[in-house]
Amino acid sequence: MPELPVVRTVSELRAAIAAWRADGLTLALVPTMGALHEGHLALVRRGLERAERVCVTLFVNPTQFAPHEDFDCYPRDEAGDAAKLANAGAHLLFVPDAAEMYPAGEVTRVTVPSLGEVLEGQFRPQFFTGVATVVTKLLLQALPDVAIFGEKDYQQLRVIRRMVTDLFIPVAIDGAPTVREADGLALSSRNAYLSPAERAIAPRLQQALQAFAGQIRADAAAAKRAADVEQLLRDAGFSKVDYVRVCEAATLQPWPGPPAAGRILAAAWLGRTRLIDNIPL
Ligand code: PAF
Repeated sequence: MPELPVVRTVSELRAAIAAWRADGLTLALVPTMGALHEGHLALVRRGLERAERVCVTLFVNPTQFAPHEDFDCYPRDEAGDAAKLANAGAHLLFVPDAAEMYPAGEVTRVTVPSLGEVLEGQFRPQFFTGVATVVTKLLLQALPDVAIFGEKDYQQLRVIRRMVTDLFIPVAIDGAPTVREADGLALSSRNAYLSPAERAIAPRLQQALQAFAGQIRADAAAAKRAADVEQLLRDAGFSKVDYVRVCEAATLQPWPGPPAAGRILAAAWLGRTRLIDNIPL
């Protein structure tokens, strides 16, 4: 198996990248929290298409979890992740610890109001400030040409695009399509929490969004029926539905109807597992 160099400090990361830059090589960054699956490996492959070197970061960022969330039990498997990344052709793995990322504690924060306050922001109020802050740090530590994020976390992608624009961070942001199981379930590290019975219900989320998108494409007035889709998911066995919303793709405000590009976003619970998914209109 090819060897994957691992660095744990910002100075080692910058030294490795400086050596590539001295050779004139371009760099793609793939930020992750580990527990890697095929969706993450697709981000690495996309990075390899976009740049000559790919650096993956692995950091389970404490500031994007609320105290009652799954930070402590979030799946961690650095050795397994490193093996997958080596096979996928990544060139470097950056695994900082919390002291390296937050050496002076958490003081400076990056917040993206409005885009970060709706949808996920309503149910996880700390989430996007934690994400925006850590992604700003990672981008400024590595200064890649491009950073790759999955469309499964569609709102995260929009927040990061806006943040990079507003802060003049000189990095292109690339969104990669969601990778799915054969039955439509979006790959997620949290799928590991699902019991077999929950796993059988999980694909109904994407199926419901597909059916809803089809109805809206046929008749835009159907966009008003998101509450019906929420009920359908509860009937299918989801224990709680945080939201099903039809949004304007760029702003995540309520979709005004055609010709504005729309996106349906949803979050629902199966027991202790929270699933999110989305679909373009
Ligand atoms: O999508 C994720 O895995 C995380 O939110 C990210 C972007 C790596 C920031 O911690």
